[in-house]
Amino acid sequence: MLRDKHIGIDLGTVNVYIFVKGKGIVLKEPSVVAINKETDKILAIGEEARRMVGKTPGNIVTERPMKDGVIADYNTTERMLEYFIRKVWGKRRFSKPKVIVGIPSGGTEVEKRAVMEASIQAGAKDAFLVEEPMAAALGAGIDVGEPNGNMVVDIGGGTTDIAIISLGGIVVNNSIRVAGNKFDQDIIRYIKNKYNLIIGENTAERIKIEIGTALPPENEDENLEIEVRGRDLISGLPKGIVVSSREIYEALKDSLDEIIEGVKRVLESSPPELSSDIADRGIVLTGGGALLKKIDRLIAEATETPVTIAENPLSCVAIGTGKVMDYIDVLKQGRGLITLSR
Ligand SMILES: Nc1ncnc2c1ncn2[C@@H]1O[C@H](COP(=O)(O)OP(=O)(O)OP(=O)(O)O)[C@@H](O)[C@H]1O
Ligand SMILES: [Mg+2]
Repeated sequence: MLRDKHIGIDLGTVNVYIFVKGKGIVLKEPSVVAINKETDKILAIGEEARRMVGKTPGNIVTERPMKDGVIADYNTTERMLEYFIRKVWGKRRFSKPKVIVGIPSGGTEVEKRAVMEASIQAGAKDAFLVEEPMAAALGAGIDVGEPNGNMVVDIGGGTTDIAIISLGGIVVNNSIRVAGNKFDQDIIRYIKNKYNLIIGENTAERIKIEIGTALPPENEDENLEIEVRGRDLISGLPKGIVVSSREIYEALKDSLDEIIEGVKRVLESSPPELSSDIADRGIVLTGGGALLKKIDRLIAEATETPVTIAENPLSCVAIGTGKVMDYIDVLKQGRGLITLSR
């Protein structure tokens, strides 16, 4: 079947997910590459490289070639993508897959072309691009072809993509550079300022996932605690402290406010008929950030609109890229699918 030759890729700032029709998600790897700077040789890609973050000797660097949802390092992105495509596709010499890649909304022509070129260099026969919120909506099971307003908020690692979708196209959208990575940085800064303790990115992410919350804990049972180890800023020695959910809420508050502002801005610029649809149908959250405790309630309260979290929020964009071919006509009509001439 011709359609079996398509693979859907969510080329994210933090994670790459690949979806193959009939098989589901076949690859989940962090978008990290470890490179020996002296020889320019790639030492590890994906999960293996992620485990090295913050632990490498001077001649080795770990790099996230995608930053804020765009290609920051073209060559490394291409090599990473090639490795992942080969991993799922094997070395079938005569059959290259067509790939559909999810990209952040509002990117420039140059950024889009870079993703397309990297996909082709990485071994794709052809590459189509779909904007992340559209893919996220498809992956969340929304029928994007209907004349109905649907609002998706995809909180990823680098960007939060907010969009209202109707008739196969994005009607209003906003992409802000506040998402999971910013939350981690907020936690690093908070702990440094309050405890003179320096912690790494992997530790900050673990704190966020285990005890982070988007609304203050309502009682002491909800106020979870975690022991954190790092380096004391003054003595330079290893030190351990205990932090609580309430403190992490304090650390994240400003960034969460920025996300709320971004969501409100999109709601305010919505055509009235679509606003009324959204008031009925609610907002759907996707992306790893949708898993932050109580983020659905925070957004619901701030916008006075019902909010639901998609099933498997981390997989939505990849699943959606896999569904693109089923909606190809409506997406072409609504400009939800981006095709660039080569
Ligand atoms: N349980 C959780 N609670 C809070 N955050 C989480 C949880 N699980 C994952 N995350 C965060 O989700 C983010 C990754 O989400 P996702 O895979 O959707 O991003 P991405 O698609 O790679 O990024 P982008 O879309 O910005 O390019 C990370 O910042 C990660 O720490
Ligand atoms: Mg994403």
